[in-house]
Amino acid sequence: MKQNIFAGLDLGTTKVCAIIAEKKENGSFDILGFGSSPSVGLSKGMVVNIAKTAEAIVEAMSIARNKAGIDITEVNVGVAGEHIKIMRYLNYVTINNPEREVTQLELDRLHADVKMVQISEEKQIIHIIPEQFTIDNHIKVDNPIGMAGQRLEAAHNVVMAATTALTNIRKSVERAGYSVKNFILQPIASSLSVLEDEETDVGVALIDIGGGTTDMAVFEEKRIKHTKVIGIAGNMVTNDIRESLGIVTAEAEKLKREHGYTHESAIIRDQEIFIKRVGARGNIKIPTSLLTQIIHARMKELFEILNLELEDSKNKEKLKAGIVLTGGGSMLKGCVELAEEVFGVPARIGYPIDLTPGLSSEIGKPEYATVVGLIKNIPGNEDEGSEVTEIEPEIKQEKKKKDSGASKLMKRIIQFFDEL
Ligand SMILES: Nc1ncnc2c1ncn2[C@@H]1O[C@H](COP(=O)(O)OP(=O)(O)OP(=O)(O)O)[C@@H](O)[C@H]1O
Ligand SMILES: [Mg+2]
Repeated sequence: MKQNIFAGLDLGTTKVCAIIAEKKENGSFDILGFGSSPSVGLSKGMVVNIAKTAEAIVEAMSIARNKAGIDITEVNVGVAGEHIKIMRYLNYVTINNPEREVTQLELDRLHADVKMVQISEEKQIIHIIPEQFTIDNHIKVDNPIGMAGQRLEAAHNVVMAATTALTNIRKSVERAGYSVKNFILQPIASSLSVLEDEETDVGVALIDIGGGTTDMAVFEEKRIKHTKVIGIAGNMVTNDIRESLGIVTAEAEKLKREHGYTHESAIIRDQEIFIKRVGARGNIKIPTSLLTQIIHARMKELFEILNLELEDSKNKEKLKAGIVLTGGGSMLKGCVELAEEVFGVPARIGYPIDLTPGLSSEIGKPEYATVVGLIKNIPGNEDEGSEVTEIEPEIKQEKKKKDSGASKLMKRIIQFFDEL
């Protein structure tokens, strides 16, 4: 496989996508091929069926390869799921050269030291991302090369994933006939395709609402500061509709996409919708506002959990550029309005940018944010996976709500239909 050819594979809960691109001399990427296939082998972002995942990879990759007319052997693969942890690691080196000047050697020594950090066998490092350097205890810089000093301190973000989750991904990719070049944290990939440089500089939270998981990542000063993956996403909204209205999943999904609103202000006219119900329960008409209540309750719960996480982790004040929503789940009408209401900061939808002309209509959609980012230059990849002592991860556990607003509302709606 040619050195300037890159392939990315996004193993999502609802779809597997493949992308093949060529890196041009000016550093930009030309997308040569793209393919997508429905996914049934994953749950909440993790592989639960290797054979089915491999089948979907074969299909998506062959569509992409046919379009590109290129043979592919290795791929960058996105990783997400509640097993992801980020640890902040601080270390230092003394600057020994006669000029007392920071060189690449000092940075390499710091990086090598981070790689030696001991973590439990259940985890593996996928990225070591430098966050900030401090020279002689007071000068803080992003890039210290060429600066004079005696002692260089560094803060690195160490991104870790469960070894078993990575092994299952690797097995699926290999069964499909490819090898894994790099594992890449999905929110990092999505950020590279939908965020503007200024946003990651001044401070932004990227929220990727997928089918099985919602991934949030906070960026400031062009670095990832915090990440969180939670198991509430688009499929749960569909499931609420299905259970509340007593309809099949396909009908609930159709209802959500065609008539679903996240926020009442997004309803233009409160129309009546005709719905087909299962078995002898009969067909009924419901007002759009009832559907909105079901969707609103779950989406509000999702945003409130994320908002609490931002506040607890002291990241809320970083969001000077607001919130960017992406992933298929962000396509629900009214998502931006609800996000602005709950988070209290401006929000927008993130579409993949800088695409090869002609491809925007096919892949310029929020659901392809991750796969488009997988071909970009990812900072701090750890391709050979280091063995690393248990250190308390920086990320706190998600606050569990006993009986959420969404489930209370669902119970009321189910009761309403039963009484009917
Ligand atoms: N137009 C739309 N309106 C509402 N929801 C939509 C729309 N298009 C897609 N979705 C929802 O987006 C979700 C899928 O999003 P996406 O393709 O980003 O997920 P994924 O990457 O497969 O999953 P994950 O990232 O969770 O592993 C589904 O729940 C689907 O219902
Ligand atoms: Mg996804």
